[in-house]
This record gives sequence, structure tokens and C-alpha cells, in this order.
Amino acid sequence: MSNQIPEDVISEIRQSTDIVDVIGEYVQLKKQGRNYFGLCPFHGEKTPSFSVTQEKQIFRCFGCGKGGNVVTFLMEIEDFSFQEAIRYLAERNGIELPETALNTENSLSEENQDILSAYEWLTKLYHHLLRYTKDGKEGYQYFNERGITDDIIDKFQLGYAPNVNDFTTEFLKKKGYQAQTLVKAGFLSLHDDGHVTDRFRGRVVFPIRNHLGKTVGFGGRTIHDQEPKYLNSSESDLFQKGKMLYNFDLAKKHIRKLNEVVLFEGYMDTISAYQAGVKNGVATLGTSLTEMQAKLLKRYVDTVIICYDADKPGIEATYKAAVLLRQVGCQVKVANLKDGMDPDSYINTYGPDAFQHEVIKASHTFMSFYMRYFKRDYNLSLEGDRINYIEKILQQLATIESPIEREYYMKVLHDEYHVSMETLKEELEAYRQKLGTKKDKRNRERNTNKKTATYASKKLLPAFHNAERMLIAYLLQDSSIVDKVQEEIGASFNIDEHKIIVTHLYAFYEEGNPPDVSLFIEWLTDTHIKQVVAEIAMTSLQEDINDKELNDYIRLIKTQNSDMVHLESLKEEQRIAEQQNDPIRAAQIAMKIIDIHKQLSKSN
Ligand code: UTP
Ligand code: MN
Repeated sequence: MSNQIPEDVISEIRQSTDIVDVIGEYVQLKKQGRNYFGLCPFHGEKTPSFSVTQEKQIFRCFGCGKGGNVVTFLMEIEDFSFQEAIRYLAERNGIELPETALNTENSLSEENQDILSAYEWLTKLYHHLLRYTKDGKEGYQYFNERGITDDIIDKFQLGYAPNVNDFTTEFLKKKGYQAQTLVKAGFLSLHDDGHVTDRFRGRVVFPIRNHLGKTVGFGGRTIHDQEPKYLNSSESDLFQKGKMLYNFDLAKKHIRKLNEVVLFEGYMDTISAYQAGVKNGVATLGTSLTEMQAKLLKRYVDTVIICYDADKPGIEATYKAAVLLRQVGCQVKVANLKDGMDPDSYINTYGPDAFQHEVIKASHTFMSFYMRYFKRDYNLSLEGDRINYIEKILQQLATIESPIEREYYMKVLHDEYHVSMETLKEELEAYRQKLGTKKDKRNRERNTNKKTATYASKKLLPAFHNAERMLIAYLLQDSSIVDKVQEEIGASFNIDEHKIIVTHLYAFYEEGNPPDVSLFIEWLTDTHIKQVVAEIAMTSLQEDINDKELNDYIRLIKTQNSDMVHLESLKEEQRIAEQQNDPIRAAQIAMKIIDIHKQLSKSN
């Protein structure tokens, strides 16, 4: 593979990288036996079929077939080029790259690269103005009055855009950027007569970073009660509000550690909470939570604590977000905010400790939120309403998996509405059975699908095909059998992909490489072949192959091989006999062909 990054540096990067750590930043991985499992980030699924082997440093999804090593993973998920993936890993591990390797291949279009670098300049500029200059003083005072410390201002690179119409445009034009690019980047406003003005002028600026920590958009808040209160950069390739979450890059490691994420509505709430020690918080970008964002969170955590404003719109939004999050399989809790407050105002009034312990730690279960939420739709002093309400709650309660939680809320209903526990249990059971039949049906369908899938991939494979796969699996982990296999079969495997794999593998070992699947995958160029190798490498094997097993595989592959060769030559003879108008001979050959086919299907 061509690249300007020296081999020894790449090798150092590989050795200091653990695939489980890297993938763990995208997928919540759980150890099961020797492998790690999680929900595949490349296709939608509810039960984990994505597996990572630490020992071999490879991953493989049994659902969609994607597989490879840490570099292919990053290339796939981030759309990185090979060099970008290596650069990313180097940065992560604090390994310095030689100058020559710095500015090379990039998977982004030139315009998007320009937009990213313009955002980088502006982030620094606005932040500098706010922190250190007279022009930005107003912005600094604003955050100061809201209780944000210098450290946090620096951490979030908060800034101020001077109240001058063309300040940003002039600054960036001098740096050589095209006006058109700047409009596309979304921090200028284009007016009807064609002139542009700075979109965020006179506002404090919140840089919005993507999950890699690069600024791709701004949120700007007025400090003089102008409308609208918040303005965001316009949508672009790089800034898609429905796909990203504010502060995800900084929150990621805390989210993983706690297996919990706190979901806010606003930038200020996220920052204020961070300052108050709740660092696993993210926020939507001025729109309601999307399915994409919910699924993103599900990949990382089991539990989402929703901490929206405790006013009417906030509660409505909480309900919608909760339903969506539960649909994608998250556990939902709802923070215990006092009526009418938002997280930031709570922290400023009651302090960080109260926020941590009485709001976040004291979160309500989804069920208790749900019961309160629907109360207002019913007049509970009327018997009819009361019954409807209780039924509504029981229906929802039936979906709760924990028997303890179910029992608990039945007790609550019993105490509050004086319905006997027996009646409640009976009703709940009936709802659960209804659900159960639906679920069973789904499971049954899923199971049958699964069965056919495994049959197709394992049982139905002809014996020679399995032999080839097993032999390759052994070849991948043990270079001592290579000579024998190469001598006996060479590249004459019957399956084309296997031919390609062994040819490369022989060359790989000849170059003196050690048996290392991850390294071998990197060595290969074809994505499909990489995936087949990852799949074969996941086969569980004995430590060493014994001679009998080895010879059996070789024999199976060779027999198939010679039968195939024989078959080909017979077909050729048959063609000639037909050409020479010799029907008897042609019929004799046809019989032989049928015989061989019979033999083949028997041995398979
Ligand atoms: P809020 O109005 O709740 O603002 O909007 P906030 O978070 O409390 O902010 P402060 O404390 O007044 O500074 C929540 C989020 O909705 C989006 C922004 O992303 C904001 O963070 N929003 C709000 C807009 O996009 N435009 C607006 O005009 C208002
Ligand atoms: Mn607020």
C-alpha cells in the first residue's frame, strides 16, 4: 500500500493501539468469553452480532458481514483514507509523525477542508477576542455574570463575534478564503442584494464540535435580548443538526465510564452541568431529538437521563424523547428538576452538589414520569376517568421488564386508587400476554431467519469448502504449516476468494511477517477479501493443527480439485465428440460426467 508514513512508524502505531479501545468509543462492547460483543455500527440491529477479538485485533459483524482491523474500521466508520486513519491513531497515542506525512491524502473535498480550517481560525479568533481584548469584553462579562469560569470558557472555546458587519468576512478573505465558501460554511448571511454580513455579529459564540473534536458549526446567543435568542450555523455537509450532539466528543469517555448519558436541550445547560461536575452530558442542537441521535446514544449506553426544562414545552419534549429512546432500546430516566426551572438556572440557584444529588442522581424512572405525565389528561375524581387512567398506566407497565418495578407501581396504584392488588395483577397479566404473543411471534420470525442464515453460512457449505476455510484459518495463526500447504496445493484452492487469500498469505509470510491477522488485513487492499479474512479468522480453532487434520483438509481440497479438472476435460471431450458427430461417444462421456457429479455431491 502506498503511503508516505514510514513502515516503522505505522508499526509503532499499531502496537500501541488496542482495537477494543478504539471501537469502544463507537460501540458499547461487552465481554463474552474471549470476544467482545456489541450492536453493529454499520447496520441497524437490536441484538448484538458485532464482535471484536482483542487477541487477533480484528472485528467482524455476523449480521452485515463487515470485518477487518482497526484501520479498516476507522476508514469505514469515519470515511477516512488509510493515511487519515493512521494519522488519527497517531494523534490518539501521542506518536509524532514525520513532517512529510502531515499534509497528504484527505477524504474531504477541498471545499470542506477549507470550511473546517475557516472554522478553526474563527473559533480561535472569537475565543481570543472574548478572553483577551476590549472588543470582546462584553461577551466575557456576559459569561462571567452567568457564573462560567475561565477554565470552562477555555475548555469549550467560547467566544465573541464583534458587532461589525464585515469583520469575519474581511478576516477570512485576508486569509485567502473565497466568499462563496464562507457562505456555504454557514457563518455569513447572504442578503437579497447579494451582500454578505457576519451572521453572529454582536453575539457570544458556542463552537459546535463534531465527535472528533473539530468545530463544524456555531451557535450564537444574543447578549442584548435580540431575536432570535439563539442562531445556529446553517446546515451543511459537515454540520447536520439531526445527526450530531453537542459536546459528544468531551462527554464520550465519561459516558462510557458511567454507562449513562444526560441529555440536555441547550448549550448553556450542558456547559453549566459540566462545570457542576456532570460531565457525561450532551445536547440536541435546537431541534427535537431525532431517531438517528437516539440510535447513536443507544450504541454507547443503556441508560439516558433526560434533563430538559421543567416547563410545559420541556415536559412535552421529554415525553417525545423518552418514547423514541425506549423504542430504540434505551432505559429512560427523567431528571428531577423543580417546576419551571432549567438545569442551568437550577445550578445557579442551588449549586453543583444539589444538582448532582437531587436532580441527576434522584432521577425518576420512566414509569413514574409517565404516570405523572398522563394524570393531567384525566379528571381523577371521576370514576370513569380513573379507570381509564389506571388502564392506560397498566398497559405501559406491561412493557416494563423488571418484575420488581412492575410490582412497585401496582402497589402505587393500589395505594392511590384503592384497586385490589389481585385485580391489578390480573389486568397486567392480560396485557403482558397480549404483548408476549406479539413478541413471541417476532422472536419466532427472527429465530427462523437466524437458523436459515447460519445454515447457509455453515452447514450447507460443501466439505471441500469448509476444508479450505479451516485450512486458511490455521494458516492465519500458524506459519509453520505454510511450506507443506504451499507444496501440496499451492494456490489451487477451489474457491476463487480462497485462491486470492492464500496467494497473498504466502507472499505475506515470505516477506518475513509474523502470523498476525490484523497486520495481514492491512496488507490486503481489496475490501471484500479483507472481510472474508476477518470472517475466517473468527473461526474458533484448536491451538495447533495435528497432522491427520491437516492431511484430511489437503486431501479434500485436492480431490475436489482433480475432480474439477477431470470434469473440465470431460466436458471438452464431449464437445469434440459432438462436433465430430459421434453421438455414442458423447453419450458415454455424458454418463461419466453424471457419475462425477454424483460422487461430488456425495462427498460434499
Ligand atoms: P432555551 O430557550 O431553553 O435556551 O433553548 P437555554 O438553553 O435556556 O439558553 P439560555 O440559558 O437562555 O442561554 C434551548 C436550545 O434551543 C435552541 C438552542 O440550541 C438552545 O440551546 N434555540 C433556542 C434555538 O436554536 N433558537 C432559539 O431562538 C432558542
Ligand atoms: Mn437557560
